[in-house]
Amino acid sequence: MTGRSVTVAELETPALLLDLDIMTANLASTAARLRGRGIALRPHAKTHKSAEIARCQLDHGAVGLTVATIGEAEVFARHGFTDLFIAYPVFATGTKAARLAELARRVKLRIGVESAAGAQALARALAGVTGPAPAEVLIEIDSGQHRTGVPPAAAGEVAAAYRSLGLDVAGVFTHGGHGYASPGSGPGAAADEDAALWSAAQQLTGAGFDVREVSAGSTPTAAFAGSHITEERPGTYVFNDRQQVVLGSCRAEEVAVTVAATVVSTTVSGQAVIDAGSKALASDRPGWLTGHGCVPDLGDAVVVSLSEHHGLVDLAGRPAPAVGTIVTVIPNHICTVVNLFDRYTLVRSGQPAGTWPIEARGHLS
Ligand SMILES: Cc1ncc(COP(=O)(O)O)c(C=O)c1O
Repeated sequence: MTGRSVTVAELETPALLLDLDIMTANLASTAARLRGRGIALRPHAKTHKSAEIARCQLDHGAVGLTVATIGEAEVFARHGFTDLFIAYPVFATGTKAARLAELARRVKLRIGVESAAGAQALARALAGVTGPAPAEVLIEIDSGQHRTGVPPAAAGEVAAAYRSLGLDVAGVFTHGGHGYASPGSGPGAAADEDAALWSAAQQLTGAGFDVREVSAGSTPTAAFAGSHITEERPGTYVFNDRQQVVLGSCRAEEVAVTVAATVVSTTVSGQAVIDAGSKALASDRPGWLTGHGCVPDLGDAVVVSLSEHHGLVDLAGRPAPAVGTIVTVIPNHICTVVNLFDRYTLVRSGQPAGTWPIEARGHLS
């Protein structure tokens, strides 16, 4: 990965730097690719958790937002977003049922479902609720990640059972998370998404359903969407990260968010210590990736270990930077990093351009 020049005068570190030029190019290229294929884009907002960025996505043609939690949906609803898909098998009882019903009164809402108990709770929560559009559910299909979702062959039977509870089944969705298994896994996982969803959709059609949505998505698979997909839900594509570079989903030049950190110690020979530890870089690390981030400004030196406020950079024989030097780190997984910060520090054409709040950080329930 190559370094990039960012002028960050007066920066308090660690800080989350968002390069607006790179982000805008990422938004435009993915939107254009999907538009060209006639596939709707419903980006996953869990990556950025920001109303400003969600507005940029809609400006680039997104049909609505995907979120992971009721809390994220509430934040985006409060900021005027009216078409939301909670792509998660929400178990809606108690106060969560009441919050979901309130959301359904205010916005066009879709919710993921994949278990009988979850469907029963959802049906109870949504009974009698009227909103701008009737709340719909999409049945989650397991396309190979083996995390959640029913097998494609079970989709028709499951959909009929959910319909008998009073739920409006609008279609099927999947997340081909096995596209993260190792570099180069994206195309195969995308083919699995397409095959599993097509098989499930046929089951639904056979059971008398009008399949209105066939929704797939992740960043490694989005570029390889199959012919049966009607909607894609990539999230990370807006920023990219070190994982995506190594997986082959993007180039290093397409990483829009980095963590700016100050070198605070070079006392122990062979290493530089930066003021970004696990509370700034998060700890996610797939088995095929070494370390917790890389530092383009130091020849792609790797952050080899973390404590809460310290990141140890292995200089691998490179000269030590001066204490006080600000460097930028490309983190492994940007979604968990964003959730640790209050705001983005914006950069445009290499110059500071203000800040944006991260309104939906936290909001985990
Ligand atoms: C259900 C679902 N949809 C979409 C996404 C977005 O995938 P990515 O972060 O690879 O862009 C995720 C990510 O975890 C997800 O769980």
